[in-house]
Amino acid sequence: MKTPGRFPLDYRLPADHFTTALRSDVRSGLGTTPRTLSPKWLYDDRGSDLFEQITLLPEYYPTRSEQEILTERSQEIAELTRAGTLVELGSGSSRKTRLLLDALSVAGTLRRYEALDVSAAALEEACLAIDRDYEGIQVTGTVADLETDVPLPDGAAPRLVAFFGSTIGNFDRDQRASFFRSLAAALSPEDFLLLGADLVKEPGTLVRAYDDSAGVTAEFNKNVLRVLNRELGADFQPDAFEHLALWNEPEERIEMHLRSRLPQTAKIPALGLCLDFTRGESIRTELSCKFREETLTAELHDTGLTVRRWWTDSESRFALLLAAPQARSAAKKSDAPSVHESPGGKSR
Ligand code: SAH
Ligand code: AVI
Repeated sequence: MKTPGRFPLDYRLPADHFTTALRSDVRSGLGTTPRTLSPKWLYDDRGSDLFEQITLLPEYYPTRSEQEILTERSQEIAELTRAGTLVELGSGSSRKTRLLLDALSVAGTLRRYEALDVSAAALEEACLAIDRDYEGIQVTGTVADLETDVPLPDGAAPRLVAFFGSTIGNFDRDQRASFFRSLAAALSPEDFLLLGADLVKEPGTLVRAYDDSAGVTAEFNKNVLRVLNRELGADFQPDAFEHLALWNEPEERIEMHLRSRLPQTAKIPALGLCLDFTRGESIRTELSCKFREETLTAELHDTGLTVRRWWTDSESRFALLLAAPQARSAAKKSDAPSVHESPGGKSR
């Protein structure tokens, strides 16, 4: 039953999943050095809002670049996939998704849109608006933790699984491998994966995207300390930490850190922890890996997925790729070779 102004969400995780996961992550991630936290804890209601503000910043190009590709390619994607179900992982505001929903609606194939996200607030708002704006499409929203499970719903075939924003870059190599493997195992031969990936580029552009002049990314980063204060009764002073965005050249990734401005102690009563920070000691709160075509294609291939199309924006900053489970790709290899295109439509 839908109540006006609310959207009913599915919760397929055990009721205590996030409480247990947060406690275990904080104990293992903050209780030892180097100190780390999973980026998923950045996305409470406020964190999801702050991320939406980030997507509008002049320095944060990934959203605009991916949107450019989707504007250019959604019709082609709709024709290639003829998707009956669009599943979106880490859907957030689902803003860019509308380009694809429009194209699939015009193609006349789409029956169902299923959004999955860790943030109930983001899901509820996005699903409510999409449900209102797309008549005849069944909309569902599921609170899920992609670090634990990739719960693909059944639905009209073929299913197109979209993972936008380069959120895949927030997983390290091992996490990506197990995520891609689970996905490859869950996809039927006729299904597709549509994956957004931010590309390696000049470090200045990257660092500016993660350390904007208005300080929104700094607030987004520090918000994780507010989450720990609220959920675990901790006493972190967010302003006693400094936001850092570092380019890790050998690993080709941006790392967000919170660096202690002074020697300090933070108490986390719910876990009986007392954490001593020296001046300059940091917590790594997010990895944002950047990709190259050859290596990402190989990672996907090694986990059972074949890249069928690779599109980039006009400045080659961001890529959107369409992949399919291997057995079907191998079978169709001769009639649908992998194609790589940037605007202008030139194939390589
Ligand atoms: N796809 C949107 C949002 C990207 S922000 C876009 O391209 O703009 C990353 C999204 O992934 C957020 O909405 C966040 O809540 C979600 N997310 C992060 N970690 C997650 C996890 N472990 N499981 C499910 N969703 C997650
Ligand atoms: C969601 N994710 C892909 C974003 C990124 O670019 O890694 C999160 C983000 N972190 C800082 N700015 C944006």
